[in-house]
Amino acid sequence: MDTDKLRIEFQKNVHDFLRQNNKIEDLASAFPIYATNTELYHPALQSLQSKAIVTVEVKSTTKMTISKEGESCLAAGHTPEGEVMDIVMKGPIQKTVLLAPAPNAPQATDKKGKKVQDPRTVAFFALTKQKLIETDADGNVVVGSSLKQADGTTKPFEDTIFLALQQFAKGEDVKPELVKELTKKNYIEKQIIKSVVLAKGTAFDTFTTEEQVLLTNQMLLTDEWKTHTFKEKNFTVPADLPKWGKLHPLQEMRSHFRRVFLRLGFTEMFTRRYVESSFWNFDTLFQAQSHPCRDIQDTFFVASPTYTMPDQVLDAPCSLHPSLPAQPKNELERYYMGLDLPEELIPRIQQVHEGGGDVCSDSLGYRYKWNRAEASKVILRTHTTAMSTRTLSTLNEGLKRVWRKNPSSQSPERPLAHPPIHGEACLSHSLLNDAHSARFFSIDRVYRNETVDKTHLAEFHQLEGFVVGRGLNVAHLIGTITHFFAEVGMTQFKFQPTYNPYTEPSMEMHAYHPILKKFIEIGNSGIFREEVMVPLGIDKDVRAIAWGFGLERPSMLQCDVSEIGALFGGKVDEEWVRESVMKIPHK
Ligand code: PHE
Repeated sequence: MDTDKLRIEFQKNVHDFLRQNNKIEDLASAFPIYATNTELYHPALQSLQSKAIVTVEVKSTTKMTISKEGESCLAAGHTPEGEVMDIVMKGPIQKTVLLAPAPNAPQATDKKGKKVQDPRTVAFFALTKQKLIETDADGNVVVGSSLKQADGTTKPFEDTIFLALQQFAKGEDVKPELVKELTKKNYIEKQIIKSVVLAKGTAFDTFTTEEQVLLTNQMLLTDEWKTHTFKEKNFTVPADLPKWGKLHPLQEMRSHFRRVFLRLGFTEMFTRRYVESSFWNFDTLFQAQSHPCRDIQDTFFVASPTYTMPDQVLDAPCSLHPSLPAQPKNELERYYMGLDLPEELIPRIQQVHEGGGDVCSDSLGYRYKWNRAEASKVILRTHTTAMSTRTLSTLNEGLKRVWRKNPSSQSPERPLAHPPIHGEACLSHSLLNDAHSARFFSIDRVYRNETVDKTHLAEFHQLEGFVVGRGLNVAHLIGTITHFFAEVGMTQFKFQPTYNPYTEPSMEMHAYHPILKKFIEIGNSGIFREEVMVPLGIDKDVRAIAWGFGLERPSMLQCDVSEIGALFGGKVDEEWVRESVMKIPHK
């Protein structure tokens, strides 16, 4: 029978029943068929209700029922307390033997599946507290003082809770204080029972099955349709929306930021180097080799290859990507792995770390002995700033050529490929019109050995940007960043001074989270130190304003998520991705 016929039959039966009885107290028990296939019959019921043929009321009642724990107690014939008492009554027993878990016993868990103490251990402590048992100096568990009588004999122990549970199971009356006890111990629990109550509606008598006829292909072919009255179509009922493809909010945010950067004349950096050398990740950024953030707690070190130095590279596949060999076989592989240290830069970086040297004579460096092996350690990059120094190191010649050609001009050398975005008022605008600045950005994944919590992940995306040019200062930095965040509708944020080994001054960016109702750190920024710029071959009077922020946190703010795990990682819910709305102002 087709589903429409089934529904019509159901409606007819409900109508007949109501005509005779006036009321249906519980639809599911009067019509078990409804309970077994609500999806099929519920629309039929709704249709009766919408035409006022019936009235529908959902009633909730509560009932106490025996829980899973209660059932297992009944099956065992005692509570864990009763079991412990039975054993102890038979004679002293070593505590370790008494509490030893049964072989192959499953781990006790609570309703949410969380590990909990074994019930026997819980019973042991409860009985000890009530002085029903005690443990002597030799670790023997014996009957406790509250069961000892004046004449030296022992009172019997009564498992009252078990007896009450048995009474309850039989449907007998149980004293209220015992019901309380049974509930406390989770042997019985409240169950909410919902019942659908039906009564005659104001238009009860207008019920007819005639109009329910559906037009079929057959009817059209045989002209049978002419003899029927048809069900009126209701075009106001919202239909199920088809499933369509949707970008994950992070991707949306990423493409949006990317568009903003590109529009402002930034060039995207090559970032496919997830496995990086400590040299680029830390040393070129003037991060001391003993700096705590190089520690294993913050950085994922790659086991194989451990070092970039070819003679130390193990002949085993790379642990991160088995298809990449540990030892690059040719130039292309070497390039993609990008692990060889640049020999020409090493003495310069070494000098700067050790004391400034000729390279950076104004700096005192860290005054230690720089260790090449430390710089060769292979890691998962902890920030994309490693890509910024890689890029900076390739810029020197190119930049010089432009500046030499046009040493003092501040006017644009070529017209911008895009119209001004936020009008002339934006601080960054004049900067971005200046052909003397080179601008780079990247958005890619970074790794940190962090404890995962509401706002931290061990693997996330970082958005990196820098502008290099003469005469850049903190005002340009603040202006540029403010401009970026305005592009994603984020205006409530503030800067806070901080320390980075590679920038001076340095500023954290904090943005207001409307759900967490507080400012959360979203990024970090600053002006690259001379110790970073000069060894890479950039002129001393050239400044680079730079920033880096996570992609996840601004995305959390924009789609009202309070846990980062809901946005990225194994716990992301596909349905949520479909329904999520990113509050990016579209331009
Ligand atoms: N590397 C910094 C971080 O990971 C961000 C940053 C980039 C700070 C550039 C200053 C300059 O948080």
